Amino acid sequence: MSSSASPVALEPLYELSDQELDSRIQAAKDRLGTRMVILGHHYQREEVYKFADLTGDSLKLSRLASERPDAEYIVFCGVHFMAEVADILSASKQTAILPDMAAGCSMADMADLPAVNAAWAEIGTVIDVESTVTPITYVNSTADLKAFCGEHGGTVCTSSNAKFVLEWAFKQREKVLFFPDQHLGRNTAFDLGISLDEMVVWDPAQANGGLTADQIREAKVILWYGYCSVHQGFLPEHVDMFRNKVPEIKVVVHPESMFEVCQKADELGSTEKIQQVVRDSASGSKWVIGTEFNLVNRLKHEMPDKEIYYLNPTVCMCSTMFRIDPQHLLWTLENLEHDHVVNPIRVPEKEAELARVALDRMLAIM
Ligand code: 13P
Ligand code: SF4
Repeated sequence: MSSSASPVALEPLYELSDQELDSRIQAAKDRLGTRMVILGHHYQREEVYKFADLTGDSLKLSRLASERPDAEYIVFCGVHFMAEVADILSASKQTAILPDMAAGCSMADMADLPAVNAAWAEIGTVIDVESTVTPITYVNSTADLKAFCGEHGGTVCTSSNAKFVLEWAFKQREKVLFFPDQHLGRNTAFDLGISLDEMVVWDPAQANGGLTADQIREAKVILWYGYCSVHQGFLPEHVDMFRNKVPEIKVVVHPESMFEVCQKADELGSTEKIQQVVRDSASGSKWVIGTEFNLVNRLKHEMPDKEIYYLNPTVCMCSTMFRIDPQHLLWTLENLEHDHVVNPIRVPEKEAELARVALDRMLAIM
């Protein structure tokens, strides 16, 4: 929906000072009261994150989205797939809203339904795919891929429950097709004792994923060729550099980082876990963190008694998370006050039903 069609237009809000933006957002929030809840992912910029009623990693936010039945509106300060999950898991009378539709996830865009259907069919020419392979989609994916997993006996995982989900998957069938993040799949499977030799990468740009029939037959885990460009920027030599430069430094990274980086880290975890391990550490602790910059910066400011560094020497932000700015938040809220919903996220009912099957399986696992 274009801003010109809205009772409150977006463009003039860029003329406001930071103080005016803050006070108008707070005033609109107060007037909307419990009719609306703002969910904020940990990667949100500070100017927006401070207005979130509830914050969390993807798993926590998925649960929270289903636990606020009284809120008519769920304003999701995060990216598109997160707002889709909120829509799927919330009651039908609730509306999930993404303040800026351009807030996508480049990793989620690396797998789409036609490509996954094609892979499923191609793997199916080599093995009996329905009885042998459990499809698992990382939550960073479009709703139709979650529906695909719901339909084919699979489920969804997040960075905080991937290990439990993979354990569950191997109890169902002997192989896993994991999309779209190869790194989370590889790091988690390795942690469960699966060797790198038992994993192959399916490249959707190549015929048969670039794999031979024997490779497909022998693999335990088929990893999609997808990645997050923010996390793929962390390199093993960055870890070595900090270990050499800062004695007693500890390294914590998100499992979307590449295998060689995760192997060198002291701790791996979701955005929620990263916060928790750094907060729980003793005063004076030294940490280098491999995840999105806004989260690292927030922890740095929150804990001046600790030495906190960013793992990549070149600061790398999630540009799509950054799309949600205070202007879009204000625009969303003031339009809601006029009962005008900008950017509602509505997953088509049939797709939502199957995606809910996959998400409910995940929530039952952990
Ligand atoms: P979390 O589930 O750990 O918050 O991760 C989401 C994400 O997009 C990381 O890049
Ligand atoms: Fe997607 Fe990476 Fe941004 Fe997370 S950090 S939302 S995986 S692009």
